[in-house]
Amino acid sequence: MTSLQKGVRKMMENVKKEFLLGRSYPVQLDEKMPNTHRWGILGSGWIASCFSTQVIKAGGNIAAVGSRELKKAQEFQREFPSIKKVYGSYEELIKDPDIDVIYVATPHAQHHEWAMKCLQHNKPILVEKAFTQNYKQAKEILDLAKEKNLFVMEAYWTRFLPHIIKVKELIDRGEIGDIVQIIADHGVYFPFDPKHRLYAPELAGGALLDLGVYPISFVQFLLGNPTRIIAAGSATPTGVDSNDAAIFEYENGKGTLAILAFGSLASSPITAAICGTKGRIEIERQFYRPSDFTVFYNDGSTFEYVSKTHENYEDGRGGLFGMHFEASEVQRCLLEGKVESSVMPWEDTLSVMKIMDEIRRQLDFKYEGETL
Ligand SMILES: NC(=O)c1ccc[n+]([C@@H]2O[C@H](COP(=O)([O-])OP(=O)(O)OC[C@H]3O[C@@H](n4cnc5c(N)ncnc54)[C@H](OP(=O)(O)O)[C@@H]3O)[C@@H](O)[C@H]2O)c1
Repeated sequence: MTSLQKGVRKMMENVKKEFLLGRSYPVQLDEKMPNTHRWGILGSGWIASCFSTQVIKAGGNIAAVGSRELKKAQEFQREFPSIKKVYGSYEELIKDPDIDVIYVATPHAQHHEWAMKCLQHNKPILVEKAFTQNYKQAKEILDLAKEKNLFVMEAYWTRFLPHIIKVKELIDRGEIGDIVQIIADHGVYFPFDPKHRLYAPELAGGALLDLGVYPISFVQFLLGNPTRIIAAGSATPTGVDSNDAAIFEYENGKGTLAILAFGSLASSPITAAICGTKGRIEIERQFYRPSDFTVFYNDGSTFEYVSKTHENYEDGRGGLFGMHFEASEVQRCLLEGKVESSVMPWEDTLSVMKIMDEIRRQLDFKYEGETL
């Protein structure tokens, strides 16, 4: 290739890169959150602390925290001194008329109870993933929200992250052609501890609800609902699932498949590859957190998306970062009078719960008192 040809090729690559970077899926990606709503935090655990760090850093207003113990709420306030009110019960938080929206950050087994109570007291809610234990509980919450015309969103923060928004945009406009396969995994080693929420059946533990929900909701976001699911998995001595895989089949005329693996007994790459007829997108570890990706085209060319996530969002304390994007979406929806987000709609939450019920049905694994 002559130097002129090389120069032209470089120029064309740059033009293409500018073009690919220049458009955006319709979600705002404000680094700053306006202080329009007073958030209440329900449950003062690890994720509540990550969420509060990010929201406060972005300019949002965490106004109160409720814990089952006043002492723990006070400890949380010491970590975040801008929080004005602390409550030694969730009920007091829910009844506070000065709270506009509540973030439910308890283990899965408590999501249904507290989400319902929040709605009964007319509070809009953002509920941590997995939204509930099963489809039935999710439906009850969303039926009540519909009846009371109140906002509810599952806190599947991945859908609001810059790199995922870009991936969705590229796929929607056919950049990699028709999707043939998606391969995604989420394995995190958690030493076995029967009391840990991941292994405790009474807290609705298990790899599926905790870790599997990430690749499942990711695939559901890109491909919709599968027509067939084939699942395999094994359980821990406490009886919750711990090492699972699933294949989703789509009768979309293209024979599309998704291959997912998730578990708590070993750490896995935590990457995602979306393979299409014109090329593939590889999202780097950890795909569900702020990350980078590369598009590999069939002609050998590539496009790299670098989100500079660590410099931009890292909180310096080993927690999750980038959670303010989902919180911003909640505030935008509330300002616009919406009851659901178009990016994480109720229908998708219900579909994800239905998929997880089906996987558990195939693994023959139920939580106590449950019918699937
Ligand atoms: N978005 C993400 O990436 C992400 C990451 C990790 C976890 N999560 C989700 O966040 C939720 C909480 O996880 P976490 O890691 O924050 O758990 P955690 O550290 O154990 O905190 C959960 C909190 O829930 C409250 N709680 C209420 N009832 C409880 C009970 N019976 N047993 C134990 N705690 C109870 C406790 O707060 P008080 O003592 O203050 O009442 C506890 O601190 C889960 O739904 C999980 O899947 C999301």
